[in-house]
Amino acid sequence: MSRTLTIRRPDDWHLHLRDGAMLAAVLPETARHFARAIVMPNLVPPVVTGAQAAAYRDRILAALPEGMRFEPLMTLYLTEDTDPDDVAAAAGSGLVRAVKLYPAGATTNSASGVQDFNRVRPVLERMAGIGLPLCVHGEVTDPQVDIFDREAVFIDRVLDPMRRATPGLKVVMEHVTTSEAVDYVKGAQTGLAATITAHHLVINRNHILAGGIRPHYYCLPVAKRERHRRALVGAATGGDARFFLGTDSAPHTDARKQQACGCAGCFTATNTLSVLAEVFERESALDRLERFTSRNGPAFYGLPVNEETLTLTRGAPVTYPERIDSGDGPVTVFDPGFKLHWKVGA
Ligand code: DOR
Ligand code: ZN
Repeated sequence: MSRTLTIRRPDDWHLHLRDGAMLAAVLPETARHFARAIVMPNLVPPVVTGAQAAAYRDRILAALPEGMRFEPLMTLYLTEDTDPDDVAAAAGSGLVRAVKLYPAGATTNSASGVQDFNRVRPVLERMAGIGLPLCVHGEVTDPQVDIFDREAVFIDRVLDPMRRATPGLKVVMEHVTTSEAVDYVKGAQTGLAATITAHHLVINRNHILAGGIRPHYYCLPVAKRERHRRALVGAATGGDARFFLGTDSAPHTDARKQQACGCAGCFTATNTLSVLAEVFERESALDRLERFTSRNGPAFYGLPVNEETLTLTRGAPVTYPERIDSGDGPVTVFDPGFKLHWKVGA
């Protein structure tokens, strides 16, 4: 007999949709399962102003296939020249739901990010005043710091001082990968939450490096040791309202992943919900899946929970395409390395 699980329709609180042919290819993969997504602004050039966010939103909606419903929640890319008035206007109109902080050089298309955190103080203070969340890519870029330590060091050197200096600022620590980040979020009084990806619940650093290098498991922040993965699973499945799903689904063509210097990013939009159901089932936590995918995020962002529902059905293993075609070239779908028994649909 098959089992079903019906939850409020999920949202993705951290998503890369790109632009042009790639946008057209990946948008249906998300819109099929998710009602809304916080859309990352790291295009080339980045989405810095309210006007740029409005234009990008129009391009996303134009790329949405007939009959599909999806609401892009737009973000602005924080630079040292960002104008606090522009941010406030874009938030006030409801267009923009968050501002994204990339430390300069931390990841894909982050060259225009922040080098001197003092220079963005006026923007952060304005955001604290109006309750607009800051989404943070939490890694230091100091070449002296080992890449596996960059998240933990960021908390001490940047995030904690920034939060202390800006009381009231709402912060989402994006795609956390360490027990230090989980502990930091749990220890905060108010105004701090974290997104967790599906792939970081599944892979540790051995999956990337042991027995051959697996470029499709390489993303940033890079997956850490098994004990960190376990901490993330505990946080995601534990029901704590401060942790919610942000897939960080980040499409790159196979040609760009499989080269001497491959791009960072796992493309998970297609099968994230089946992967999550499997992870939560193994933890005997299926009753808490809805909080992680559909309730905790809206609560933090001050948005209503989706009225629609989504049903997952357990049965014979489901298969997803190994790759999707993007027009720019094939994009490999994340391989969790285990069978998926939960399909989306009745
Ligand atoms: O792996 C990643 N890919 N991490 C990021 O922070 C950016 C993303 C991308 O845009 O490809
Ligand atoms: Zn991302």
